[in-house]
Amino acid sequence: MKKKQMKIVLQMASGYGGEFKTWRLPEAKADAYTDMDFYVEMAQLAEKGKIHALFMADTPALVNDLTEDTPMHSMDPLIAMTSVARATNHIGLVGTFSTTFNEPYNLARHLKALDVISHGRVGWNAVTTTTQATAANFGTHVKVSQERYERAHEMIEAIQSLWGSWGEKAYLHNKETGQFADMSKINPIEYTGNYVQTRGPLPIPPSEQGQPPIFQAGSSPEGVRLAGRFASGVYANPFTIEEAREYRNMLRQSAVNHGRSADDINVFTGFMFTIADSKEEALARRRKVMAFDPQETSQRLDYLSAMVGINLKSFDVEKPLPENVQQMLQPHWQDPRSPRAVTLLQEGYSPLDTLAMGVINYHPVVVGTAKDVADFLQEWFESGATDGFSIVPDLAHDGVRAFVEQVVPILQERGIFHEDYEGTTLRENLGVPYQYGILTEKM
Ligand SMILES: Cc1cc2nc3c(=O)[nH]c(=O)nc-3n(C[C@H](O)[C@H](O)[C@H](O)COP(=O)(O)O)c2cc1C
Repeated sequence: MKKKQMKIVLQMASGYGGEFKTWRLPEAKADAYTDMDFYVEMAQLAEKGKIHALFMADTPALVNDLTEDTPMHSMDPLIAMTSVARATNHIGLVGTFSTTFNEPYNLARHLKALDVISHGRVGWNAVTTTTQATAANFGTHVKVSQERYERAHEMIEAIQSLWGSWGEKAYLHNKETGQFADMSKINPIEYTGNYVQTRGPLPIPPSEQGQPPIFQAGSSPEGVRLAGRFASGVYANPFTIEEAREYRNMLRQSAVNHGRSADDINVFTGFMFTIADSKEEALARRRKVMAFDPQETSQRLDYLSAMVGINLKSFDVEKPLPENVQQMLQPHWQDPRSPRAVTLLQEGYSPLDTLAMGVINYHPVVVGTAKDVADFLQEWFESGATDGFSIVPDLAHDGVRAFVEQVVPILQERGIFHEDYEGTTLRENLGVPYQYGILTEKM
């Protein structure tokens, strides 16, 4: 039997990478945010490395202070995905679109049109959106979880129904008979939910994969139920293998509860990295980025202090802590990143270097060589923690290249990452079955 292989998607949000200040590094492209040629270049590079898909996170609002930091998201994921679709052939394009701040018809139309244009490479990350700034942009406020998720179920039902409303065999374009489409196979859906209503049909034929697979990212019980019912991919951000395994098992069980197979869900664990020829070099790069913002570093030191139970600022933060102090460190029970912080400080990393190792980033971080990165991915994958990764380079500009040229060959050599794309569509490449229209029962 063929060895199971990990799946990898590349997060391409604002165009810079996972750290908000890496845009100031000499090797960075300072205007990546607005340069679609750069997005295309990164996508083509990722495609060379057989990366399964690009993942575009999104929140339609200005959510961070841009005085010194780069934006968190692209100008518009749909437009960025369309630009990339026309300049690539294999890589998937997964975009985040809100189930709360869209209507089914416009979203169904956008995604299916792009799926057809890209020859079946689109995926939809269906999120309920909990950002107040986004709600304000739509003249409202964030609703409670139950309401958001009830609407999410209806949105996906309505959108999949619209996708299926143009019959699979209805597109004839036959010059001889003069028949362009078989209208007996193109029918209204008359969807009437509590939150959304739409008549249809949607005048777009199927793509090579039928229609886009659904992704999901909410970790609440409602989110896990939604994923179990619909999702082929789930974005997760666990910090430990145990936490990841537990979450993955919950998702797999949720799929079974909804009459699907546990293997129908692929979990993509968020993971950040800085790659250099040596650990010291990688660490030096992270320290350089930290130096761009002494105030934030100071705040992070306070946070790190809380994570390990000692005021680190009362010591020289450039030096290893005294041995007796190292022994006094206690991981904070509520923060799963704390044990790693304690370990690094006890290994003799100074508080500043410990921060630079990424102990308080929003995903697990590896700062080191390509082999260090490959080892981390292999360990998590083989321990059943995840089906794949959603990778975030610190800086896209050279991070994507380093991953593709240095990490991918190691993973391929170890037999845990594919040598080539399995097919031409996102579903084929992810091992997700063809689907057209809505399959599942009501919630
Ligand atoms: C790895 C990851 C990525 C996410 N990306 C987005 C995103 O791009 N846009 C968004 O609005 N929410 C995003 N979310 C948030 C969730 O989709 C979800 O809306 C939020 O967590 C609230 O749902 P919950 O109550 O089920 O947790 C992400 C969550 C995770 C774990």
